[in-house]
Amino acid sequence: NGKYKVTLIPGDGIGPEISESVKKIYAAAEVPIEWEEVSVTPVLKGGKTVIPDTAINSIKKNTVALKGPLATPIGKGHVSLNLTLRRTFNLFANVRPCASIKGYKTPYDDVNTVLIRENTEGEYSGIEHEIVDGVVQSIKLITWDASERVARYAFHYAQASGRKRVTAVHKANIMKMSDGMFLSACRQVSKEFPDVAYDEDLLDRACLQIVRNPLPFSNRVMVMPNLYGDILSDMCAGLIGGLGLTPSGNIGRDASIFEAVHGSAPDIAGKGLANPTALLLSSLMMLRHMNLNEYAAKIEKATLDTIAEGKSITGDLGGKATTKEYTTAIIDRLAST
Ligand code: IPM
Ligand code: MN
Repeated sequence: NGKYKVTLIPGDGIGPEISESVKKIYAAAEVPIEWEEVSVTPVLKGGKTVIPDTAINSIKKNTVALKGPLATPIGKGHVSLNLTLRRTFNLFANVRPCASIKGYKTPYDDVNTVLIRENTEGEYSGIEHEIVDGVVQSIKLITWDASERVARYAFHYAQASGRKRVTAVHKANIMKMSDGMFLSACRQVSKEFPDVAYDEDLLDRACLQIVRNPLPFSNRVMVMPNLYGDILSDMCAGLIGGLGLTPSGNIGRDASIFEAVHGSAPDIAGKGLANPTALLLSSLMMLRHMNLNEYAAKIEKATLDTIAEGKSITGDLGGKATTKEYTTAIIDRLAST
């Protein structure tokens, strides 16, 4: 039927409502996508709990997925499903753009940066042991190959998006070997891109500078190891109004998963108050990844105009509209352009 099949993982809590909103907007915009909805809730297989084969096979086959929030237990409990998906499909680059949105008042109006986070190793390797009682060791694993791969992705991304600079964010003053090697890989890759400037910044210094004045960080790409990217991307999201507004994409060679980074918000689940913006903006990254740029531009404009108008901001961000009203407002704008 000439449509692209995309795997949809609605997720937990508010996941189904915000997915519904995206589906409605896509139907209105006549995006040539057929959703294949799957659940990643673990099932028992051969004595182990695993992500169901239907979900894994769907992503393998379609190579593109959109994912809502999945609850992650803290401390003990199962391994994060988010991480399992990233690992299963070797999604090596986590791309997190962060740009001010007109209509959301924050102390900043000139944030426009892109974080690219190494997505397969670092402190997220999950290698931990209790050496003796009261002493635990967690391994931060850094490999040359993964560092080089994410660095090259960051430079390509900068080039393709017209950003003029790549900054490697690190703590090589302390982690001399691991972060030191990450930097060496970035430096080596930078030589392949003479038209993109390259520099390095300490993580703590970068945090301090960006909350003081985000403007110098605009028009560039920041690339960094996994955990730094996790923390810095939340901090940057805070500058523009929170995780309800920031998109993200996990990019691999054989598959990519685009996801909202916020939690499943069980306290407001099912009440029609959840803000679908982060999932919607993530889906637009997905459309561009699939070369469906015109649809992305059309929906993006309708969304940003709706927000700029200021009427339809959902309750969790201080507005009065419900998820439905907000969704309808975007659809109405789609129709009028
Ligand atoms: C994110 C999330 C995940 C992470 C959690 C849910 C495992 O915070 O995507 O940033 O830590 O990477
Ligand atoms: Mn995070």
